[in-house]
Amino acid sequence: MSSNNEVKPRDQWGSKIGFILAASGSAVGLGNLWKFPFMAGQNGGGAFVLIYFAILFIVGFTLMLAELTIGRKTQLSPVGAYRSLDKRFTWVGAIGVLAGFLILSFYSVVGGWVIRYIVKAVTGAFTIADPEVLGGLFVSFITNPIEPIIYHLIFMILTLGIVIGGISGGIEKYSKILMPSLFVMMILIMIRSLTLPNAMEGVRFLLVPDFSKITGDVVLAALGQVFFSLSLGMGAMITYGSYLSKDEDLISSSVQIPLIDTAIALIAGLAILPAVFSFGFDPEGGPGLLFITLPAVFSQMPLGSVFGVIFFTLVLFAALTSSISLLEVVVSYVVDEWKWNRKMASIVLGGIIFLMGVPSSLGMGLWSDIRPIMGKDIFDSVDFIASNVFLPLGGMMLCIFIGWFWGIDKALAEITNNGKLNFALAGAWSFLIKFIAPVAILVVFIQGLGIF
Ligand code: PFF
Repeated sequence: MSSNNEVKPRDQWGSKIGFILAASGSAVGLGNLWKFPFMAGQNGGGAFVLIYFAILFIVGFTLMLAELTIGRKTQLSPVGAYRSLDKRFTWVGAIGVLAGFLILSFYSVVGGWVIRYIVKAVTGAFTIADPEVLGGLFVSFITNPIEPIIYHLIFMILTLGIVIGGISGGIEKYSKILMPSLFVMMILIMIRSLTLPNAMEGVRFLLVPDFSKITGDVVLAALGQVFFSLSLGMGAMITYGSYLSKDEDLISSSVQIPLIDTAIALIAGLAILPAVFSFGFDPEGGPGLLFITLPAVFSQMPLGSVFGVIFFTLVLFAALTSSISLLEVVVSYVVDEWKWNRKMASIVLGGIIFLMGVPSSLGMGLWSDIRPIMGKDIFDSVDFIASNVFLPLGGMMLCIFIGWFWGIDKALAEITNNGKLNFALAGAWSFLIKFIAPVAILVVFIQGLGIF
């Protein structure tokens, strides 16, 4: 297709490694470090992890490749991408943008908690190992009506700042430095945690499945977690793929990104759950698990405060490389579709999403009586709708779109760079995307929502 009607060439990734790091940067974030360990804790440990892996293999890799393919094919963000291929699916892109809005609104609240904990670590607060005291500190912070909102604002401003810088100038540059540092730091903390007394009980909890714990709820939670953690189902990877050049290898990228993401999630689990058991915390502690458990670990380490500062700073970086991709989905929509300039779009949308996050934060304290969905507070309700409903719905529609409307042959042509690359698993992938993945998502969905 000729590009003579384009104002300027679309920004592209500066290098292959830059793309992998940025896309993994989107995938690796609070979903791995904060959400995976506490979700595993709440949903039966090994049972959850087992189901997580099953879904990763059936749905995760399959959809990662699908999203990158659609993005690179159309060189557009989700709404435009769907519209250009089949107008009837434009709404799927729109649901993705909406999911991005919702996820970023509460994601930024947790990002704010992380900033608060960096400050705590700097001021030497990590000298306590008592679960009661640490739990109390966390709860009194998140239930405060003002303080967490100020930190939420700071997180949003940081996110905005990076997105305004554009693709190769902003996102790629930061990811190159931050992702590898995070990896090294996580390994160190995991080693420390695994050598605590009684640590093996946590390892067993996380890795040995108790089949009696598998329920519809657990499976739905794992499904939502795969989508959330891999940044799938809302077009983030369509957007990232849209900046890929036509000779890049989509197949290897869609294996590498999920592998990196899963490795970090497991390492985070192995850093947190052994400590939970060693110190006698409650594995079902929920969203506070990271914030309550790790300070206890740091308190028991020589130079613990230094560790604490470095760790929470890296968590912040990981959160930012994800939040920028969430904002990017929304921003690139208005830049591509409404022709806004990037700076204006980032500031206005970031502002709106900040305001949307305020009720989630207040729902922890002042508004904790408001329970919009299934008895969940505002924060959990927004998370549930976005992660367990919108993302799987977006993923299922993507399978249906490729498998039954756009056509597997067209997808395979894009994946193999028009026959130049060898895709050994083409047959398996086609079968997964056409039949297995959409049906699996649907079944989990129906089970988990208790419709059967
Ligand atoms: N994958 C990110 C994480 O695990 O923290 C969160 C996320 C980013 C979800 C981007 C969805 C998305 F599009």
